[in-house]
Amino acid sequence: MRIKDILAMASIQGPARSTAERLQRNAHSVQDVRKLAAKRLPKSIFDYIEGGGEDEFSMRRNRSSFDDWSFMPAWGSVDNLDLSTTILGGPSSLPFYLSPTGGTRLFNPAGETAVAQAALAQGIPYGLAHLSTTTMEAVSAAAPNLRRWFNLEPIADKVELQGVLDRVTRAGYEALIVNVDCRSIGHRERDYRNGFTAPPTIKPKTVVEGALHPRWALGFIANDAIAFPNLDAEEPTGPLASSPDMWRTLLAGAYEPTDWDDLREIRKRFDGPIILKGVVNPADAALAAEYGFDAIQVSNHGGRQLDFMTSPLDVLEDIAAAVDGRIEIIVDGGIRRGSDMIKAIALGATACSIGRPYLYGLAAAGQVGVSHVIELFRDEMTRAMMMLGVRSIEELRTNGRELLRHRSETSPALRVQAIVPSPPIASATPTASAKTSAPTRTSYAESSL
Ligand SMILES: Cc1cc2nc3c(=O)[nH]c(=O)nc-3n(C[C@H](O)[C@H](O)[C@H](O)COP(=O)(O)O)c2cc1C
Repeated sequence: MRIKDILAMASIQGPARSTAERLQRNAHSVQDVRKLAAKRLPKSIFDYIEGGGEDEFSMRRNRSSFDDWSFMPAWGSVDNLDLSTTILGGPSSLPFYLSPTGGTRLFNPAGETAVAQAALAQGIPYGLAHLSTTTMEAVSAAAPNLRRWFNLEPIADKVELQGVLDRVTRAGYEALIVNVDCRSIGHRERDYRNGFTAPPTIKPKTVVEGALHPRWALGFIANDAIAFPNLDAEEPTGPLASSPDMWRTLLAGAYEPTDWDDLREIRKRFDGPIILKGVVNPADAALAAEYGFDAIQVSNHGGRQLDFMTSPLDVLEDIAAAVDGRIEIIVDGGIRRGSDMIKAIALGATACSIGRPYLYGLAAAGQVGVSHVIELFRDEMTRAMMMLGVRSIEELRTNGRELLRHRSETSPALRVQAIVPSPPIASATPTASAKTSAPTRTSYAESSL
């Protein structure tokens, strides 16, 4: 090669002119953004995002269940490819929403406000956690045109419940996301090992971690103390006290052992759409439809609650059969690629949701980071749909199953496992879920565990 050829090939980039440009250059996947978040946050805070319940089996299975499905593209037209859709009766530019996550200002002082503004700019809905660290009213004021939903931890006391529902309605939230997987709090052992508390308490280890992550520490110190101001029926007027004991009491009160009667009470008292979040059993999904709920979120809370709870993807086809189009099905857990969303929709989901991915974006670069993550999903879905030969989310919902193969369908050894009948159990009475589920799909799921 001559010098002039080498010079022609030289490509020297100047420094990035904005955070968005820096992310475009360096973060090509959710995994890349996750690495940036891990660098920015003290270990105990990063682990709080990252961790799951007990042995973290559910969390790992959430991810690996996507690996069990591969694509069989078909040669179709991809003219006018469109990712926009309708979720809960309203528009969304992409087939997913940002799932509620408590304690968000721990990861970046801009917290829920930054997430709401990114969701608004990208044209997708956002679910604000009951345990958010910004008031529901402040989020509304920061993004008044955002499609925003409120994540209610069920409250058994009717007067208190009505107070919170009135406050949610006054603040302009169009829908409720009601948790049915939080009757007790999951045992997140990483947090105990790290000595993590919400709000953070200052120990010698915290000071060292802060010194090693000065940008995070400065943001944390320079901003208001972490608080959970939505737990009351009234908007707080003065600064909230922040003694760890008070927080423990408040958080314990947030996880109430409610039942179907409490859920039906919420249904009666709220006019807008309601999503039941944390349903994985087809029998419960059918009941949700029968009791007039508008959607279920098939979710194991990102593996943070009951360990060994099934992966949402593994039960999706059974759930879709039980619901039979009567209500919407949103799926979350382990979604890290646009192609994961395509698989979920092809298997029966109306739409998807993400938790950790947008928190990585928030921790790495605030609102711009959240937007970057949403853009990654947009690009990955567009690319995958072009290569699959699918033009729209509706087409994916109707014909997508034809484009997927489970590994038990493609691997001869697994196929044998999947068709070997289980030994008969003498005098067994069928369970509610066995009565409602489609017969063949469970065997795929079991064979892959
Ligand atoms: C840090 C963190 C906090 C969360 N807080 C809540 C919460 O307050 N309410 C809730 O319903 N789900 C909460 N979730 C669960 C998410 O809404 C969602 O179900 C889960 O993160 C999806 O899995 P993924 O993180 O693999 O995408 C939280 C998740 C994380 C990571």
